[in-house]
Amino acid sequence: MATMTTTLSSLPACRSKTAAGSPSSCSVFCRWPSKSSRNGGVRVQVSTTEAEAEVKKAEKVSKKQDEGVVTNKYRPKEPYTGRCLLNTRITGDNAPGETWHMVFSTDGEVPYREGQSIGVIADGVDAKTGKPHKLRLYSIASSALGDFGDSKTVSLCVKRLVYTNDQGEIVKGVCSNFLCQFFFLFRINACDLKPGSDVKITGPVGKEMLMPKDPNATIIMLATGTGIAPFRSFLWKMFFEEHDDYKFEGLAWLFLGVPTSDTLLYREEFERMKEIAPENFRLDFAVSREQTNAAGEKMYIQTRMAEYKNELWELLKKDNTYVYMCGLKGMEKGIDDIMVDLAAKDGIDWLDYKKQLKKGEQWNVEVY
Ligand SMILES: Cc1cc2nc3c(=O)[nH]c(=O)nc-3n(C[C@H](O)[C@H](O)[C@H](O)COP(=O)(O)OP(=O)(O)OC[C@H]3O[C@@H](n4cnc5c(N)ncnc54)[C@H](O)[C@@H]3O)c2cc1C
Ligand SMILES: NC(=O)c1ccc[n+]([C@@H]2O[C@H](COP(=O)([O-])OP(=O)(O)OC[C@H]3O[C@@H](n4cnc5c(N)ncnc54)[C@H](OP(=O)(O)O)[C@@H]3O)[C@@H](O)[C@H]2O)c1
Repeated sequence: MATMTTTLSSLPACRSKTAAGSPSSCSVFCRWPSKSSRNGGVRVQVSTTEAEAEVKKAEKVSKKQDEGVVTNKYRPKEPYTGRCLLNTRITGDNAPGETWHMVFSTDGEVPYREGQSIGVIADGVDAKTGKPHKLRLYSIASSALGDFGDSKTVSLCVKRLVYTNDQGEIVKGVCSNFLCQFFFLFRINACDLKPGSDVKITGPVGKEMLMPKDPNATIIMLATGTGIAPFRSFLWKMFFEEHDDYKFEGLAWLFLGVPTSDTLLYREEFERMKEIAPENFRLDFAVSREQTNAAGEKMYIQTRMAEYKNELWELLKKDNTYVYMCGLKGMEKGIDDIMVDLAAKDGIDWLDYKKQLKKGEQWNVEVY
């Protein structure tokens, strides 16, 4: 039995569902748990002794063996029809592009776990083929309890895709523009997903990004942009909820890379978590178009990680450290580059070491 320590019955008072104006902040909900509400305020820092690491090794359970994880309950031919309950822009006016947070009803019929994705089939047909649109995958941004704590909703964090093609024409991505509401420039377009609209959902899918079962684990989360979605889901379970069978006592460390401070997705929620669990949660941002390192280089996620490289490498030697990476494909190489040098100092070949970590489900990547 799980409960929410949050009070989320009300929709955000600080947002307009019709998105008439700019959001006043980048958080979705206005109320979070009080400082003392989680675990009675008691924090236990993760242990790093070798003896304890050995004990944890013996207890390691594969996240993929869990029979309760549902996949492909709904397929494209017979999708689940949910309803949009909330759709709100979570990036500011000066952001390059827009990202939206949306909540769909599921009536508990799409049972998902933290780290899974769902498919969405946009309304309408493909102009070229005349056939229904193909599904697009989206990482689930809510914990299994959902944003309203009743296990009856699923939330997404979606960036609107708009680009200029080789002919100089503005092209809008099919599904992201179906999901993100239209305003400003795009207001003329009628096909937006307003609260009350139906949405066709497939899945859930994916086991790569499931959370480790060990509540004492060190979980390092590396996100660029909307790659934050699965980590919001993890972190809500860890810090905003109470579960009889899961009480997080380890260390969660989030690195989030975004272009501007206007695009620091869910920033207020994460800062609240840090207040609730300062010993168990570390938070580092890399704002690429506003920050640089000492050498004047653009602050990418791997640039921020490099500031802690020795500490990260020590954590990676522990048997109960799990790394998760989600977002832009390009980030993986940048992160490998830091690790190659660090591992080499200990006479270790990083790529071999990474293979071992992957085998032990300690290195988990979903980039696109
Ligand atoms: C496992 C997984 C999880 C994902 N999770 C999320 C998520 O949580 N949030 C999220 O926002 N997205 C996520 N995505 C991406 C998402 O599935 C869609 O790909 C994205 O929303 C774009 O879909 P669309 O229908 O709007 O664009 P489409 O109509 O499918 O157009 C996309 C196509 O446009 C072309 N294109 C794109 N950019 C350019 C460019 N700059 N120049 C030229 N051509 C270009 C490419 O051919 C590309 O394939 C995820 C993808 C995967 C695989
Ligand atoms: N499960 C999944 O597979 C999954 C889930 C969610 C999202 N995604 C994908 O993740 C991507 C996120 O894009 P977004 O538009 O949401 O992000 P965004 O807002 O554009 O932010 C991406 C950040 O990463 C930086 N960046 C660019 N190249 C990089 C590199 N090589 N290494 C490290 N950082 C780099 C960008 O910097 P500059 O722009 O300043 O260069 C920016 O700060 C999308 O392609 C989305 O489809 C995948």
